[in-house]
Amino acid sequence: MTLVILDIFYYMFIHKSADLLHIELQKQRSQGNKIGFVPTMGALHAGHRSLLERARAENDTVVCSIFVNPTQFDDKADLDKYPSTIDSDMEMLRSVNVDYLYYPEVEDVYPNGEASDDIDLAGLDLIHEGALRSGHFQGVAQVVKRFFEIVQPTSAYFGQKDFQQTAVIGQLIKLCEFDTKMVVCPIVREPHGLAMSSRNERLSPVERDKASFIYKSLLKLKERCFFKPLSEALTTTIKYLKSIEDASLEYLICVDGDTLQEVNDLYDSDYVVALTVVKYGGVRLLDNIILKKPKV
Ligand code: PAJ
Repeated sequence: MTLVILDIFYYMFIHKSADLLHIELQKQRSQGNKIGFVPTMGALHAGHRSLLERARAENDTVVCSIFVNPTQFDDKADLDKYPSTIDSDMEMLRSVNVDYLYYPEVEDVYPNGEASDDIDLAGLDLIHEGALRSGHFQGVAQVVKRFFEIVQPTSAYFGQKDFQQTAVIGQLIKLCEFDTKMVVCPIVREPHGLAMSSRNERLSPVERDKASFIYKSLLKLKERCFFKPLSEALTTTIKYLKSIEDASLEYLICVDGDTLQEVNDLYDSDYVVALTVVKYGGVRLLDNIILKKPKV
């Protein structure tokens, strides 16, 4: 089996083997190169692109992984229907001048099998999205831990779109004392406001447009917070979201951006984020908005 392919037109190395990639990246590090890493599950869109471009702008060497990680899917059907668009993905990676693509088989990522010890995620994996998708964040932490050990990135790029995931990765970095900075990039949206996601492909064009009600309601919530108590603003927004035909609200909650604990008042924390999941057109659509953030 070929383990490394050199794309001669764009000099992008495609690695199937963690060991070879690790050795190659060690060479880069020894030359003093900063390594930027963007982990993905493929089916790349403009949201992923924004992470890749940021990594390209801030590092000497850029590594992207494409791996649909089976251990983070609680629903086998969801795993089976996860989209794969490797040709257009590679086109995007080349257009951003990514240096290395790690595109492994399951056995290369998990040579000892997929089972994992529990990672202490300080309970961040068990609440909100984690309460609805059993084991999901343990799977995410397991694969990201493995990737960080292979790549040892200077900086790793994640999207605010999956807000709880960024909190989980923050905890993983602390727990494992990784010498990696996490960079959280803003949400990229479709023209009407729906947060971009590989899962949006399952919606019809009309549904994609209509699904902008989610972002609009988050913006409205933010606006209402300025002149109404948070709890009141939240109740009004929940009522609105529940009234939308064909949509089902799974949750809309306001949390502290670091601990993910629920807050009932904007004064309870100096970092407040509203997290929501709405099922629409048969697809779970995640979104969030920062209501308050301390200036750094
Ligand atoms: P995936 O869903 O492919 O997303 C890869 C990265 O792209 C994540 O950090 C995600 O938050 C970011 N992203 C997705 N949509 C975005 C958008 N609209 N705007 C900005 N960023 C966006 O998240 C995963 O893969 C996996 O859980 C992974 C971290 C790769 C572990 O398997």
